[in-house]
Amino acid sequence: MSALLEFREVSVVYGGVTAVDKVSMSAEAGQIHGLIGPNGAGKSTLFNVASGLVQPRQGTVLLEGADITAMGSYKRARLRMARTFQQLELFGVLSVYDNVLTAAEIRRSWARDHSDSKADALQALERTGLAEMAQERSDRLPTGLARLLEVARALATRPKVLLLDEPAAGLNEQETRTLGKLLIGLADDGLAIVLVEHDMDLVMQICSVVTVLNLGKVLLTAAPDDVRKDQAVLSAYLGSAEVNV
Ligand SMILES: Nc1ncnc2c1ncn2[C@@H]1O[C@H](COP(=O)(O)OP(=O)(O)O)[C@@H](O)[C@H]1O
Ligand SMILES: [Mg+2]
Repeated sequence: MSALLEFREVSVVYGGVTAVDKVSMSAEAGQIHGLIGPNGAGKSTLFNVASGLVQPRQGTVLLEGADITAMGSYKRARLRMARTFQQLELFGVLSVYDNVLTAAEIRRSWARDHSDSKADALQALERTGLAEMAQERSDRLPTGLARLLEVARALATRPKVLLLDEPAAGLNEQETRTLGKLLIGLADDGLAIVLVEHDMDLVMQICSVVTVLNLGKVLLTAAPDDVRKDQAVLSAYLGSAEVNV
């Protein structure tokens, strides 16, 4: 297995607060890597480091073995890494199709190839089951579909690494199952997926490995069954009403 994305001893400090503390983890091709932890553990901050929105105080980020830690956001946007946001970042007035097409066209303008953005957009919509709603205005979508649209937009950029920040938030059980199947299929196609998610059932079902963060530090990285049994994980979650491990 090969690490497509790797964090080595990454630390982020906001003011005096260490939000991420010497975190090492890697995402392999073909795997869904769960990243869990109580609110404020540093999960979204780690994604911000990967996508260049936040510069780490220390440590290294590697994509396909290349050090991208100091890469500017303009260059970094061309990397084959895509993410979704905890707070949805869709173009509300645009249709579902145009949201995805925009993402595909931005990718094509970086890649300067002659790929067909429309075909990429349609493929991403088919993949996420949104093709039938292509002409809907995206701000009219219910939350579950809007989250899928974020994933579709990410896919339209042809990523190798996909970072998903709470994609199941606001989804009902059936939508969550659909999302789970989609992610398993994408991993089978060889994507490296990092999944930040509070839905423990989903995490335990679809992730092959899980990293637990607490107060910015890695508590452990292990198979889902071992995470479930771990005493330190249970203690970290104690008193957190929204998570049942
Ligand atoms: N832009 C910011 N400025 C200052 N502190 C921040 C900022 N973003 C996050 N933090 C702090 O960093 C810590 C980790 O936050 P975050 O990465 O959002 O956690 P999570 O996604 O695991 O809930 C928290 O203590 C949070 O308050
Ligand atoms: Mg977060």
